[in-house]
Amino acid sequence: MRIGVLTGGGDCPGLNAVIRAVVRKAERHYGDSVVGFHDGYRGLLDNDWTELDIERCRGILPRGGTILGTSRIQPYTFHDGVERVRMTMSELGVDALVAIGGEGSLGAARDLHDDGIPIVGVPKTIDNDIDATEMTFGFDTAVQIATDAIDRLHTTAESHDRVMVVEVMGRHAGHIAIRSGLAGGASLTLIPEHPFDIEAVCESILRRHQRGKRYATIVVVAEGARPLAGTLEMPTPELDRFGHERLGGIAQVVAGEIERRTGYETRVTILGHIQRGGTPTSFDRVLASRYGVAAIDAIHEGAFGQMVALSSDQIVRVPLSEATGRLKTVSAELYDAASQFFS
Ligand code: F6P
Repeated sequence: MRIGVLTGGGDCPGLNAVIRAVVRKAERHYGDSVVGFHDGYRGLLDNDWTELDIERCRGILPRGGTILGTSRIQPYTFHDGVERVRMTMSELGVDALVAIGGEGSLGAARDLHDDGIPIVGVPKTIDNDIDATEMTFGFDTAVQIATDAIDRLHTTAESHDRVMVVEVMGRHAGHIAIRSGLAGGASLTLIPEHPFDIEAVCESILRRHQRGKRYATIVVVAEGARPLAGTLEMPTPELDRFGHERLGGIAQVVAGEIERRTGYETRVTILGHIQRGGTPTSFDRVLASRYGVAAIDAIHEGAFGQMVALSSDQIVRVPLSEATGRLKTVSAELYDAASQFFS
């Protein structure tokens, strides 16, 4: 067989580990050849690709990013998108595709499958908000990076007796925030699932300080966290060219209000894309490698329109139609556990 692979959406540590696993399993086990499309669906639409083999994938396992490049370009934004995909596949003799991506790229994979393209999905996002899998690779790395940052902020916050507001990624769900907040001993964690009351946030900071000790106060804020309706005026968000809000807005609002209402000196740290850069943790390398191997098996078993997923530490398959369109939010149990440590 000849198999095409692409990485779409925001990059994430572990993408190269998936590519390497796809190539190794395909070439060694099945005698397949593999082509990699550049910049996600853009390469598939524009016939822009590179030949991949085991030699080409040497040394990429611990490397962050993606050797193929990525973009948020989707086939269905073009009237002739599906035709162009078919044309590229037939010109290159590609029999089936592996699409590694998040909600947007997997949604496009689902639609391509409905249009008759043989495709299998691999879930990727540092946000870990894809409902049909227990874990996406990249998430563990992001939580570790955020935890390390919170640890570092503790010492400087304590020295200056300041409040530190740390913004982490998580547009729709607060998985990174709640786990790094719990692991890093945050005083408060604000997530999209639980709109916050700024009054209560400030009261808890005041209470903490009134205990008389010099405390490091760390407030972790997921980028998608929002105040309870009508409690706080939010500035008009800045949008990128895909209509997504830019990072940093909510942390600035929260920090400004804390300083104004409590009088405590407050600083903001926006971790941003640091959470997506650099080498994946061993957990993410293992998960990514298992997904890559499983995606090639799925292709050889004709399981098109499926996504590989993790369930009770087993790799399973879930129809793309079920895997997309539903987000996984932070569980009540995890939020409750984390909130036991709020000040
Ligand atoms: O979906 C992954 C993610 O990292 C989100 O957490 C974040 O909101 C977004 O991507 C940032 O996207 P970009 O790289 O386009 O700024």
